[in-house]
Amino acid sequence: MRIAVVGTGYVGLVTGSCFADLGNVVTCVDVDHKKIQELKKGKVPIFEPGLEETIRRNRNKRLFFTTDLGKAVQTSDLIFIAVNTPQGKNGEVDVTNVMAVAKGIAKSINRYKIIINKSTVPIGMGDIVTQILIKQGPKDVSFDVVSNPEFLREGSAVNDLLRPERIVIGATRRSAAQKVAEIYKPLHSPILITDLKSAEMIKYASNAFLAMKISYINEIANLCDKVGADIVQVTKGMSYDSRIGSQFFNSGLGFGGSCFPKDVAALVQIGKVNHSPFRILPEVLAINQNQRKLFLEKVSQAVGNLWGKTLAIWGLSFKPNTDDMRQAPSLTILPVLLAKGAKLKAYDPAAMGKAKALIKKVKYCRNPYEAAQGAEAVLVLTDWNEFKQVDFQKLKTIVKQPILVDGRNMYDPQEMAEKGFAYHGMGRGEVSQF
Ligand SMILES: NC(=O)c1ccc[n+]([C@@H]2O[C@H](COP(=O)([O-])OP(=O)(O)OC[C@H]3O[C@@H](n4cnc5c(N)ncnc54)[C@H](O)[C@@H]3O)[C@@H](O)[C@H]2O)c1
Repeated sequence: MRIAVVGTGYVGLVTGSCFADLGNVVTCVDVDHKKIQELKKGKVPIFEPGLEETIRRNRNKRLFFTTDLGKAVQTSDLIFIAVNTPQGKNGEVDVTNVMAVAKGIAKSINRYKIIINKSTVPIGMGDIVTQILIKQGPKDVSFDVVSNPEFLREGSAVNDLLRPERIVIGATRRSAAQKVAEIYKPLHSPILITDLKSAEMIKYASNAFLAMKISYINEIANLCDKVGADIVQVTKGMSYDSRIGSQFFNSGLGFGGSCFPKDVAALVQIGKVNHSPFRILPEVLAINQNQRKLFLEKVSQAVGNLWGKTLAIWGLSFKPNTDDMRQAPSLTILPVLLAKGAKLKAYDPAAMGKAKALIKKVKYCRNPYEAAQGAEAVLVLTDWNEFKQVDFQKLKTIVKQPILVDGRNMYDPQEMAEKGFAYHGMGRGEVSQF
């Protein structure tokens, strides 16, 4: 099939290159000229495992990059919209980019097309895109608008796109949904065809549910801290129950990234506007923010007055295996530590380029040991695998004080105690006496 993917961010670039890998001819479109120039030269602007290889295999054969939306629309049968839909002032979704693309498609549409929304958009957006096409497009050209929300996770996006647990396709006409389903057939994953609004709702309801799961377990973790239980044992014991499961169940600094915070806030707004206000979701967001505060309190308890003290920061991205800094806990925590007079030395395997532009007055280091050299405490903000391999004997000889504040519950408290570290996790109770 001939496909256009509009927006070459985490979703669009992964979608475009994977669709090309499946044998389709794909044109990726973006308004960002610099990004497109780089992609044309084979430079990949984001870190995502497997993406560079996928692009390399397909570039200039089945995968092309352009800023010319009109031409991409005219030469494609299917047009995916994968632009960013950021959070507006009151939590609502800012759909400016989706509207701009819809208007651009209306201007250049020359024959029947299927326009597929992959961006996360408020329920009813499919109808708005349809109206734009009807009002601003040529009268004699037909089209279908389809919703195909994306569930990939940054850090494993290529794998998620090629091995999805489900594919949701919402449409007004079944034939349009079936045409879109054809692209996914080689993946042999379950495909659910629904109406437009249900598909749009599935995305929000799923993300908000996962966010709720994280906030729930964080509240249990906070109680574990008070009563002396260990949240890691507790979640393990809960996870054997298949009704509960083990995913998205890690206590710690809470969720971040470009999706969960904005999608929960958006659903809260959608509920309000539709006179069906959520009671549970505002709390999910509040609990999440509070985790950062609790972590800072743990740091102060462990180190005392932070003025003039050097702290090592391990991890800056919002989660491992990505360079994405959007809504990363580090963006809230580091400025507070700096304001309290701490001197920060940070290391992240992938996100330092992006972090440098966002958080100044931090010494960015080449590895976790360099960051820990002379530090009064090591603070773990992202659970990168690299930090699991740390040589704690070596670490102990270079830090000023062997204090570990683990915002991601990466380590075993007892093991850390045996290695001579004062360990502070999130909800680890009295496990060191176990
Ligand atoms: N990042 C994720 O993990 C993820 C997962 C599932 C769904 N989503 C959703 O997918 C959408 C895209 O997210 P993302 O993280 O890929 O965003 P992103 O910010 O990484 O990329 C968006 C891209 O769209 C481009 N763009 C903006 N307006 C444009 C226009 N008018 N024409 C052409 N290009 C335009 C931007 O220049 C940018 O390159 C969002 O709605 C998001 O909520 C994201």
